[in-house]
Amino acid sequence: MQLKSYLLPLLSVASTLTATPIASPDKASLESRSAAGCFEITQFRNSGSPHSISATVSFDVVDRSTNAAATCRAILSIQPSIVTTQFPTYCNDTTVAFGFQYNPPFPGYWLSIAHIYNNNNTVDAGAVWAGRDIRRYDNPSGNPNGDYDYLNYPAEFSVAYNRHVQQLPISTAAAPVPTP
Ligand SMILES: *[C@@H]1O[C@H](CO)[C@@H](O)[C@H](O)[C@H]1NC(C)=O
Ligand SMILES: *[C@@H]1O[C@H](CO)[C@@H](O)[C@H](O)[C@H]1NC(C)=O
Repeated sequence: MQLKSYLLPLLSVASTLTATPIASPDKASLESRSAAGCFEITQFRNSGSPHSISATVSFDVVDRSTNAAATCRAILSIQPSIVTTQFPTYCNDTTVAFGFQYNPPFPGYWLSIAHIYNNNNTVDAGAVWAGRDIRRYDNPSGNPNGDYDYLNYPAEFSVAYNRHVQQLPISTAAAPVPTP
């Protein structure tokens, strides 16, 4: 669990490290070390539902530069009412996956998103910090079953990503293991 949770940040670090200029034709490449583009997020929410123990994290994501468009959703039918889900949780288009994770003691939620295409050789991946501003919606009917918790976070935002292009060795020999 822990290993998986830290996979995305570790991959970013590993990519940065392997991007040091050591000559090797088989080396995977980063097209850019700064952000290569942006996922545009709309309709983001992470909240419980009135009169229900289920809670939902959902959003739409588009990337106009690659024509990616997906709806991403994870539903929990138990408390707590803020949903977490491991990366990769697949979106309706399975070339897009996300994670929404909380790894205490680090205080708050991470949204990570990846789009994989080009025969699984190109991965655009990015993450944002979603904070920890959890609020309670008080149902005006006064019925406490109508109350629910939600993460106070914008419904629209963008997630900058880096692009990793995997260039597989042409020979059948195993790819070199990067030295630490
Ligand atoms: C996924 O949802 C998006 C809307 O966000 C839609 O444009 C797209 O066609 C859907 N893809 C699939 C494979 O159903
Ligand atoms: C990409 O990887 C997924 C998951 O392993 C696999 O289902 C899919 O067929 C692959 N696509 C291509 C084009 O290789």
